[in-house]
Amino acid sequence: MAPSTTSALTLHINGEKHTLSVDHRTTLLDALRERLDLTGTKKGCDQGQCGACTVLIDGRRAVSCLQLAVAAEGREITTIEGVADGDRLHPVQQAFLDLDGFQCGYCTPGQICSALAMIEEHAAGWPSAATEDVRPEAGVPELTPEEIRERMSGNLCRCGAYVSIVQAVAKAARAEEEAV
Ligand code: FES
Ligand code: FES
Repeated sequence: MAPSTTSALTLHINGEKHTLSVDHRTTLLDALRERLDLTGTKKGCDQGQCGACTVLIDGRRAVSCLQLAVAAEGREITTIEGVADGDRLHPVQQAFLDLDGFQCGYCTPGQICSALAMIEEHAAGWPSAATEDVRPEAGVPELTPEEIRERMSGNLCRCGAYVSIVQAVAKAARAEEEAV
């Protein structure tokens, strides 16, 4: 008998469990959009180059077009639909809105998911390619526009809203710092 090419799996998404049967080749992106109707996550290039499909997996950003759905079983997945607290927008969402960090909005869910994790990575002291002093004793690098551009460089915006995106990320990061 030929081996089965489908599996039943349970995905934990935005605090809810979803059980579905998928072809083993199904990407997490297609499972989210086509099977679970979570269409906030966007498909741009479908080959890991644009960042439109960025979600959080166990709190780390990941391009869902390069993840197999079967490999995401048991992980905590957060999509843009799970970022707000009810009707209250997350500070990163609010900053994008306040500073016009988008035009058509297609890249925005990925930008916001990426920014959420990026702000945490920076606060935890992770260096980037733009960090001048990467020694641990140098501490958390200043979150300059260069740092934000480098850290968000996996998320492309075809509308070119980069200036406002950088400002929105900086504002959200400041708000998070002040809240600590
Ligand atoms: S759709 Fe996944 S990186 Fe472009
Ligand atoms: S706002 Fe249109 S692609 Fe970024």
